Amino acid sequence: MIELTELQERISHVKEELSAQTLRLEDLDSLEAFRIEFLGRKGKIADLFKLMGQIDPADKATAGKLLNDLKREANEIFDIRKEKLSLSALDARIESERIDLTLPGVYHPLGHKHLLTQVQQEIESIFLRMGFDVATGPEIEDEYHNFEALNIPADHPARDDWDTFYIDDTTLLRPHTSPVQIRVMEQTDPPVRIICPGRCYRRDTQDATHSPVFHQVELLWVEEGLSLANLKYVLEAFIHEFFGEGYEMRLSGDFFPFTEPSVQVHMRAPGAEDWLEIMGAGMVDPAVLTNVGYDPDKVTGFAFGLGIERMAMLRYGIDDIRVFFGNDLRFITQF
Ligand code: DAH
Repeated sequence: MIELTELQERISHVKEELSAQTLRLEDLDSLEAFRIEFLGRKGKIADLFKLMGQIDPADKATAGKLLNDLKREANEIFDIRKEKLSLSALDARIESERIDLTLPGVYHPLGHKHLLTQVQQEIESIFLRMGFDVATGPEIEDEYHNFEALNIPADHPARDDWDTFYIDDTTLLRPHTSPVQIRVMEQTDPPVRIICPGRCYRRDTQDATHSPVFHQVELLWVEEGLSLANLKYVLEAFIHEFFGEGYEMRLSGDFFPFTEPSVQVHMRAPGAEDWLEIMGAGMVDPAVLTNVGYDPDKVTGFAFGLGIERMAMLRYGIDDIRVFFGNDLRFITQF
């Protein structure tokens, strides 16, 4: 038998433990430990209930009430704490998973074509619409295609080491796209109607208007009955398409070994005073036609060579060729 007073003592002991533990409940884990210790099936309160069997029947009602009060108190502590701790756990989680929507996003810039590529492709598309094909040739050329076949004599200054990058005695980095004319005519019977865009190399010291690497577009049209008038028409059509309708064009005499006659092409912007030199052109020299096995009595042709950088500089008001090769995004992203 257990005296009621002893049970009361044990109950108040558990109550003290309960209050002490309550102070230490700081998260859901310690709350669960609390629940097992006091309210679990083998917990301290269940242990006290087991003593009921040993209580004097006269005291049972009192004992039962005391035990139930204890249990209710423990349950209340548990419920209140559970709600509080769950809320603060949720707060902590929200805080830790917080996304700062005011931060700038990660910027992935999209690349785009370099201005020179854009201009080259635009020139290509203008001539493709006029019925020309696009042809290409090697950047490492031989002397024959670069000079001899183009009627450039051995003592011509362009042949000088000083002007051209030689790889060995007869191989060089092409200083112009004109050798592509020869390569195409060697492979094709007339009529030939092509443009040849590509990279060229010269021993130029870099300055605002010179670069050892630059780009040209060559044009060649060979067929029966072509004259300077046809050249003039094609040039004018190109200038109007590329620069604008109001532009004027003027041809003046010049000399290139591979054309006869040779002309210098000038254009003038609407309202402007100055004529700007934009390219060299001419009627293909009969010697060139003969070199590729064409009969100059049967076919005639015309050609031109323009600098892509120069076209871009004139159109966009760029005054220094070095910006094309400077790899500076402040320039590149403007176009
Ligand atoms: N090849 C010449 C140069 O680089 C440009 C040129 C002039 C090409 C007249 C031509 C032409 O086809 O007819 O300076």
